[in-house]
Order: sequence, then C-alpha cells, then structure tokens
Amino acid sequence: MNAKRVTVTDITGMKQEGRKISMLTAYDYPTARIVDEEGIDIILVGDSLSMVIQGNENSLPVTMDEMVYHTRLVARGARRAMVVGDMPFMSYQASVDKAILNAGRFLKEGGAQVVKLEGGAGVAKTIEALTGAEIPVMAHIGLTPQAIHRMGGFKIQRDDERLISDARAVEEAGAFSVILEGIPGSIAAKITSTLRIPTIGIGAGVHCDGQVLVLHDIIGLFERFTPKFVKRYAELGKEVARAVASFRQDVLEGKFPGPEHTF
Ligand code: KIV
Repeated sequence: MNAKRVTVTDITGMKQEGRKISMLTAYDYPTARIVDEEGIDIILVGDSLSMVIQGNENSLPVTMDEMVYHTRLVARGARRAMVVGDMPFMSYQASVDKAILNAGRFLKEGGAQVVKLEGGAGVAKTIEALTGAEIPVMAHIGLTPQAIHRMGGFKIQRDDERLISDARAVEEAGAFSVILEGIPGSIAAKITSTLRIPTIGIGAGVHCDGQVLVLHDIIGLFERFTPKFVKRYAELGKEVARAVASFRQDVLEGKFPGPEHTF
C-alpha cells in the first residue's frame, strides 16, 4: 500500500495545529528509506552534500546535474516524506528564467515536490516567479552557506531588522516555509510568531515551528567540524571503522571466509 505523501498544505497546517515539523537531509536511497520510514516529515537533498558526500571545502562547487542525480536517488527511497531539492550556487542567481528552468528539473527529473533556495528580500522576485510556475518554494535566511565569502565564514547572523524584513519578504513572495539558520533564538522566536508560514530552524533555538539537521552530523559520519547546534545521536563513523578493521584482521589471519561462507 502506498503511504500518503506529505504535502505543502500538510506542512503549513502543522503550524496552525501547533505540531512540530521534523526535517533531515539525505543524499541517497538507503538513508532516504530509513529517514522516511522513521516518520520524518521532510527530506532535504541539501547542497551540504558538496561537503558531506563530495568532500569539498564548502557548498559552492556542487552542480545542478549532481543535485538532480542525488535527488532522484532520494526520491526512490522516500514514499511518505516531502522531498526538497536544494538549488545549488549559481543555479538561480543569474536570472529568473534560469531559476525556473533549474527548479523545474528538480521536479521533472529528480522527483522532488518542492525546491529550496537561499536569500531574503534579494530573491523575492525569484520566489514569486517560481511559485507562479507552480513550483513550491522553501526559503532559507540567516546564515546562508552559499554566501560564505560575503559573510567572511560561517558566522551567526544577528542583524534583527534585516532578518525580520527578509522573513517578511520571502513570505510575501509566496514561500510556503522558511529555514532560519544560525541566528539567535530570540530573533527566531520573534520571526516565528510574526509569520503565517512555518519556520524550520537549524541553530536557531527551540521556538521555531520545526527543526532540521544534516543526517551525517547526527549519526557521526561527518567529522571535519561539528557546529554547536548539532546533537550527535550515533557514532556510525567509529562503528564502520571497527567493522573495517575486523574484516582486515580476519583476512590477514585467514579467519575469513569461514566454512559457513564457502560453497
Ligand atoms: O544544504 C543543507 O543541508 C541545508 C540545511 C543545513 C538547511 O541547507
């Protein structure tokens, strides 16, 4: 039996009903299946895959083709969760027309239901055009990693006037929800109570309508740095290392394969 897919209306309804929204990243079929089966509402195929999967320094290098490829893998594993395609750097900044064509690829080729893009008032026209083209948009304001060079690093954003006006701008432009990343909890609480659309926080305190984290951060598979806002729920990196070392030892000592593994 097919599970009923989480829709944009479900997500906006959750805010009205006071139910918290859960969201995690996934980048491939097996992890998407686990996240989906555990009842997470939204799976983000984040451009964080540039760092987490591809080993790049930041999120700028990942391409549209690579994002669409990973979105397709995730969409195959997600039967219930809403799948969000994250628009990579330079896939929407150059022109609105280019943004529509690239966003459309996430739905048409990737199997996503919605797209996410970074920026506030500066991308309002793009959000308006995408929603006008029947592509639902999740906005993303605050510490926006694609702006790493403008911000001078991954820095907490504290300009409350700018944050509030960005939040209002993306709501007015038609975004159905907004990620608040790396901002003080008090500002996130104010934005959450001001907006009609749900806020989903990452490093933005407990008063958002939902929370998102990078899957590999919470399961211990990304070791390069761990931001303060990450809670570690498992140590899979250490577990995998133990398994690999045991296999190697067994091979060296002639203990593998045993009779039970032999035809
Ligand atoms: O790319 C990503 O994973 C994200 C989340 C951290 C919100 O944008």
